[in-house]
Amino acid sequence: MTTAQTSTVPAALEPFLAKPKQLLINGRWVAAASGKTFEVYNPASGEVVAHCAEGEKQDVDQAVKAARQAFEDGPWSTMSPSERGRLIWKIGDLIEQHKEELAQLETLDNGKPYGVALVADVALAADMFRYMAGWVTKIQGDTFPITVPYAPDAEFHAFTLKEPVGVVGQIIPWNFPLLMAAWKLGPALAAGCTVVLKPAEQTPLSAIRLGELMLEAGLPDGVVNIVTGFGETAGAAISAHDGVDKVAFTGSTEVGKLILQAAAGNLKKVTLELGGKSPNVVYKDADLDTAIAGAASAIFFNQGQVCSAGSRLFVEQDIFDDVVSGVSEIAKNMKVGSGFDEGTEMGPLVSKEQHDRVKSYLDAGLSGGATATAGGALVDRPGYFVQPTVLSRVTDDMKVVKEEIFGPVVTAMPFKDDREIAQRANDTDYGLAAGVWTRDIAKAHKLAKSIRAGTVWVNCYNIFDAALPFGGYKQSGWGREMGYAALENYLETKSVCIGL
Ligand code: NAI
Ligand code: MG
Repeated sequence: MTTAQTSTVPAALEPFLAKPKQLLINGRWVAAASGKTFEVYNPASGEVVAHCAEGEKQDVDQAVKAARQAFEDGPWSTMSPSERGRLIWKIGDLIEQHKEELAQLETLDNGKPYGVALVADVALAADMFRYMAGWVTKIQGDTFPITVPYAPDAEFHAFTLKEPVGVVGQIIPWNFPLLMAAWKLGPALAAGCTVVLKPAEQTPLSAIRLGELMLEAGLPDGVVNIVTGFGETAGAAISAHDGVDKVAFTGSTEVGKLILQAAAGNLKKVTLELGGKSPNVVYKDADLDTAIAGAASAIFFNQGQVCSAGSRLFVEQDIFDDVVSGVSEIAKNMKVGSGFDEGTEMGPLVSKEQHDRVKSYLDAGLSGGATATAGGALVDRPGYFVQPTVLSRVTDDMKVVKEEIFGPVVTAMPFKDDREIAQRANDTDYGLAAGVWTRDIAKAHKLAKSIRAGTVWVNCYNIFDAALPFGGYKQSGWGREMGYAALENYLETKSVCIGL
């Protein structure tokens, strides 16, 4: 592992950073009702780069009111599908036109390498809006030939209408700030809903810039409202609000459960995309070079702060040492540094809190008997850097194997045969994703079928596309992001039956 020490704020971001970071309510940028702001940090240095309006319950109330009015009376409610689709497409175009700036904001705010933000986060965000724009003109119901036993002589014309759920609250995390906003906003807008979005307090900047771009695209007032602030205040106010018809959340399983409880008040619809502890299984007949590189990127991508990270690496016994040493070599050679430095492969974690959390897992693993074949410690420099780490000599019951670490730490374990691996892969409360590496197509299909998870990648990992549904089994969540499956979460089905 090599580290570089420079960390700069790009000059191109200065005009945006110089402006006050306010709440977007009813098409206008306003200060929080309390006048309070909170600090936004660059995780590569720990320096404050911006102050952001701290929205709370009162601001959420205003935002929900604006969203309700836009849903019921505004131009949004009567806009034709074609027009709505073109507007959403334009948001995608504007993201692409501003891709460098948005990628720089992601690097500054979240820490991730600029090149990654540009080709993954920003490109996928633009694509999400375009993909969903295409659906707007294709949201349609069905007709039903019905037989009503107690009305044998009557005739009916029965059909369904697909209608927007209404005002939705969307609470997103900090690991892919812009992309998570896109995953949430794309289907909500395509369905015709209006939104109150709360970005994570660690990374509010790109959502604010996206808010500006959405206004530039011509989104009517109140359709998307953005309330920056903390989870316990602004987030809790959204999930408990009686004026919100649905809440969509991405984040920790712990907070997912709190949101569910808060949503019970008015029985708002809930979708949740939560944590994971995904198994990544390498068979001895795999193409080893590809599997080793894939296993490393499955855990180290985005500093390991990925809900689907391949954090439990299971390797068939005969090749265990080879794979562990291969992944460890990659870890040791990774260039760790500021996301703005040329060639950086791994940036800092997002926050001091996350840095401390990952450190406590490293301590628990090492003191519990694990061996670090790469990394195993924080990086001694300003900012929230952690060494890419491979832990072996671990057992299935260890905390580092059971709990989501959300950092660049993989636990590697050998396995003997097919039956054993299916059982161990599923021995988790989570069910978000899994990886399988083998040249044997039957083996791949069989394991893919027996793993209880929302996504299984075979001979690849962390492949995301706007068309491909993504979400969790078990405690990894409810509902799906992306694809038509995501759109359905924002639609109600109304049956209409006409007596002829
Ligand atoms: P978190 O779940 O607390 O935060 C995610 C979002 O929820 C943020 O916008 C936050 O402001 C909001 N929030 C927090 N408490 C809330 C509440 N009571 N009501 C409504 N909204 C609330 O996650 P945190 O604390 O940032 O990270 C903790 C762990 O969660 C990570 O170590 C990781 O394991 C997991 N996580 C999983 C993510 C995923 O993509 N599935 C993303 C972020 C974190
Ligand atoms: Mg939290």
